[in-house]
Amino acid sequence: RNYRSRTECRGDIQRLNASFLAIYESLIPPEEEKEKQKQLMALLDKHVTKEWPEARLFLYGSCANSFGFRKSDIDVCLAMGDADIDKAEILLKLADILKSDNLENVQALTRARVPIVKLMDPTTGISCDICVNNLLAVINTKLLRDYSKIDIRLRQLAFIIKHWAKSRGVNETYQGTLSSYAYVLMCIHFLQMRTPSILPCLQEMETTYKINVDNVECCYFDKVEKLEGFGSRNGESIAQLVWAFFNYWAHSHDYANDVISIRTGSLVSKRAKDWTRRIGNDRHLICIEDPFEVTHDLGRVVDKRSIRVLREEFERAAEIMQYDPNPCVKLFEPY
Ligand code: GTP
Ligand code: MG
Repeated sequence: RNYRSRTECRGDIQRLNASFLAIYESLIPPEEEKEKQKQLMALLDKHVTKEWPEARLFLYGSCANSFGFRKSDIDVCLAMGDADIDKAEILLKLADILKSDNLENVQALTRARVPIVKLMDPTTGISCDICVNNLLAVINTKLLRDYSKIDIRLRQLAFIIKHWAKSRGVNETYQGTLSSYAYVLMCIHFLQMRTPSILPCLQEMETTYKINVDNVECCYFDKVEKLEGFGSRNGESIAQLVWAFFNYWAHSHDYANDVISIRTGSLVSKRAKDWTRRIGNDRHLICIEDPFEVTHDLGRVVDKRSIRVLREEFERAAEIMQYDPNPCVKLFEPY
């Protein structure tokens, strides 16, 4: 299926573009939300530095990577400097401190996969999860945010794909489908692979940012303001890109052999990573390499049942983009 011939014969491609952009605009958080986040961070910071003067708080995840929708909860990382701390002890202490302030539903969940303190701030209405020393997440948040500054189409595409995944129920890691983080990596990789490319591969460029976290060397080119106009040789519109994205995952991706890798800006073979068979719970049925933790497959949550659900959803979306006169209705139809 050739999307050029398709999009050219569609007189309404402009209208479809406008619809996608309107959806994107409606999901962007308003400026005052950022202000409220800052307000809550300042409050948390006051409590934390009083107890642990050396500690620092960082925002991570969608509230800081530029791929967050309006009214999202925020993810916060408490960086303690010392790696040999008892996280559970710190979190219980933190929960105690925060309970004494005007915060609601303060709870330490010390036995979760990622142990956290949860709370709700009635002043700003924001809910928040605080974890300890999860610095790789802070660094990959910066990487995603830096990518989003290079070409606006990344943010637009990722918003549409996340909105589709949430509407269709395929953004649920506990049910074996993919995290928002995984979908954003898929979008970055997809835009790196367009011809001409819309995004560069920052980790293959000159190192301008370097940090060692949990024995992982994280380095890449972060002077992204110098890359303005990088993708301008490619004139594809958001509607074309959404169409091609679904078409790629429905009909072109080689699930048996390929790993998508934004670290290299190319496809890597499953064989080279020894991701060809199930090891423990990692089945590697759809392979998405983490940019820094390269042994980490974001597709590891996907099992035999959920890979079928995912692929059927990609096929459904591609089909709608291909034939439906008004794709925006069906594409985001609740499942
Ligand atoms: P929303 O769905 O809008 O909340 O997006 P989000 O980006 O906050 O979602 P998500 O919960 O997927 O990710 C939170 C952050 O955790 C990511 O931005 C990454 O920085 C980090 N992270 C690192 N490794 C993983 C992983 O294996 N799975 C997930 N889900 N997140 C990871
Ligand atoms: Mg989140």
